[in-house]
Amino acid sequence: SKATNGHGNPRDFIAKMKDGKKRLVIFYGSQTGTAEEYAIRLAKEAKSKFGLTSLVCDPEEYDFENLDQLPEDCAVFFVVATYGEGEPTDNAVTLMQNLSEESFEFTNGEHKLEGLKYVVFSLGNRTYEHYNAIGRQVDEELTKMGAVRIGERGEGDDDKSMEEDYLEWKDGMWDAFAVAMGVEEGQGGDTPDFAVSEVDASAPEKVYQGELSARALTKTKGIHDAKNPYASPVKAARELFQVGGERNCVHMELDIEGSGITYQHGDHVGVWPLNPDVEVDRLLCILGLTEKKDTVINVESLDPALAKVPFPVPTTYNAVLRHYIDISAAAGRQILGSLSRFAPTPEAEAFMKKMNSDKEQYAAVIGTGCYKLGEILQLAAGNDISAPPTPENTTVWTIPFDVIISAIPRLQPRFYSISSSPKLNPTSIHVTAVVLKYESVANEYTNTRWVYGVGTNFLLNVKQAAQGEEIPLLSSPGAANGDAASVSLPRYAIQGPRGAHKFEGGYKVPVHVRRSTFRLPTNPKSPVIMIGPGTGVAPFRGFVQERVALARRTLEKNGPDALADWGQIYLYYGCRKSTEDFLYKDEWPQYEQELKGKFTMRNAFSREVFRPDGSKIYVQDLIMEDRDKIADAILNGKGYIYICGDAKSMSKSVEEGLAKILGEAKGGSAEVEGAAEIKLLKERSRMMLDVWS
Ligand code: 2AM
Repeated sequence: SKATNGHGNPRDFIAKMKDGKKRLVIFYGSQTGTAEEYAIRLAKEAKSKFGLTSLVCDPEEYDFENLDQLPEDCAVFFVVATYGEGEPTDNAVTLMQNLSEESFEFTNGEHKLEGLKYVVFSLGNRTYEHYNAIGRQVDEELTKMGAVRIGERGEGDDDKSMEEDYLEWKDGMWDAFAVAMGVEEGQGGDTPDFAVSEVDASAPEKVYQGELSARALTKTKGIHDAKNPYASPVKAARELFQVGGERNCVHMELDIEGSGITYQHGDHVGVWPLNPDVEVDRLLCILGLTEKKDTVINVESLDPALAKVPFPVPTTYNAVLRHYIDISAAAGRQILGSLSRFAPTPEAEAFMKKMNSDKEQYAAVIGTGCYKLGEILQLAAGNDISAPPTPENTTVWTIPFDVIISAIPRLQPRFYSISSSPKLNPTSIHVTAVVLKYESVANEYTNTRWVYGVGTNFLLNVKQAAQGEEIPLLSSPGAANGDAASVSLPRYAIQGPRGAHKFEGGYKVPVHVRRSTFRLPTNPKSPVIMIGPGTGVAPFRGFVQERVALARRTLEKNGPDALADWGQIYLYYGCRKSTEDFLYKDEWPQYEQELKGKFTMRNAFSREVFRPDGSKIYVQDLIMEDRDKIADAILNGKGYIYICGDAKSMSKSVEEGLAKILGEAKGGSAEVEGAAEIKLLKERSRMMLDVWS
């Protein structure tokens, strides 16, 4: 190859590998960063186990024509996520096309990769129909072309067990890898990924205090996307549950005027949260950095191809722990192993090693107690984690900060279905978020405790601050309100040291928009059936607003009968009680009125209206009641179906119900004709899902 030292074609990964003497190339198909993290972890393991370095690649940045030119002593890894309805992530679209298209020729002039050694780790979610479709497709195509897989194909289930699936798969894969590559374990070593240095804060305005991009720091204009989120002012915020307090659902309107951000009904908004005070304090205490938290640090990558510095620098210890890395997730099994060598006592080390190696014990302790990394380190050292962490009650662990940065993944945005339409709300994005809070299970270390979702509690904090409310005290499970055991909701430093979140006029939330294909049919004559209980109603509020905007224009132009030939819009909604958690209760009658009888809302109040035998009524039951109308709308009216909300039980039951209705309407069964009709509807994008677990 003529390409050397980067003077050649920057899209030529083989040349880059040769330049860097790398024997592995790892391509990741990643949407939110998870696949990328696993790609980096594989690269690090190859280095520490075998001393082999890797080129970790975003496939979008490379060409694949010369994949067949990979030298014989090299291997290629694919770490690919399956997205939506069995699609590749945006950055892997071309890669997938190149692998599958028979007409795509490699340098050898053929569609053949004879003898190419490859590894596949596939990420997906078992509650979706096309579980891990992309990883399977990569595997199939490569085998077809004569390539040879090393070890088993790994498959991770994002719904439940991604980390466990990865851990279970990788050891066998590395064994097979050693054989296939002719290498031996123990040739690597523990080389750090980063060098962290404390520096003089001569120019404090250049220090990142939680800003998510260089533009955010310098306040220069530019496009807002996942790499440069927009700090959007909170225009309005309110509680949506009629009886707030123990359960909350936040409605927030984020101002995007002048930001250049646009959106469509059905899109998602990524909200960038921060870690709550208590977890930041806990890690500062554990790392012995409480006094030094505002010290300015610089971080340099010692192998930029393997590990990029995951956040902007220079920054401070505090900002890293608060804004940039995810210290709020449940502690992972592998990280406990890598931190065990820094344990302050032999007992703590034994505890960490046990949690790392004993899967059952890990599940029994962390699966029940839902401990975050800091809490596990405290438990290991015998600290009492029921008290707020202080330097006095916390044992210090001497963990180099570069190890912390390598081991803990970047804090990711949380995505919510936008609940407004840009036609009615051109300058704001509405979010509808039920605040996540659940109880851990008591075990030998702690009693039942509340566990709080990071993103939604952050939004609740912002909402309360925006309204000048106190953050309320809640009783911890099993304690009466006001007891000593009462705890307050987690607090977040939303005031921001440099106004990252607070500004003269109020509060700001960093966001970016993610496009979706969840959209209404363009022709209003098509009937539409929407099923969205709970916060699953969020996008449908946007859909209905979209139609209301169109109705206003149509009526104005063509007179009072202008909607006569519109298709019927059905919304199936469910909540506990009409007086408790009925979202946007006051808005629906107005939408009904404006849509002149074309909008029908059906409600399942699951804890208010029961069957004679006392059993609950859910949205899927209402669908069965309306079976004739639904069959007519879909089969005769060429209608569209949308389901949003819980992926596990609700959307499954709804799909089953629909299969029954459609199958029987066609004179057949749910299993045969019904399933075929559902498949067809999905293929034609007349049935779409926006579901989560
Ligand atoms: P429940 O809590 O009374 O069981 C929003 O959360 C609504 O969805 C609530 O009325 C809730 O009822 C209901 N719900 C819970 N599980 C469901 C399921 N499997 N299918 C449909 N609706 C469900």
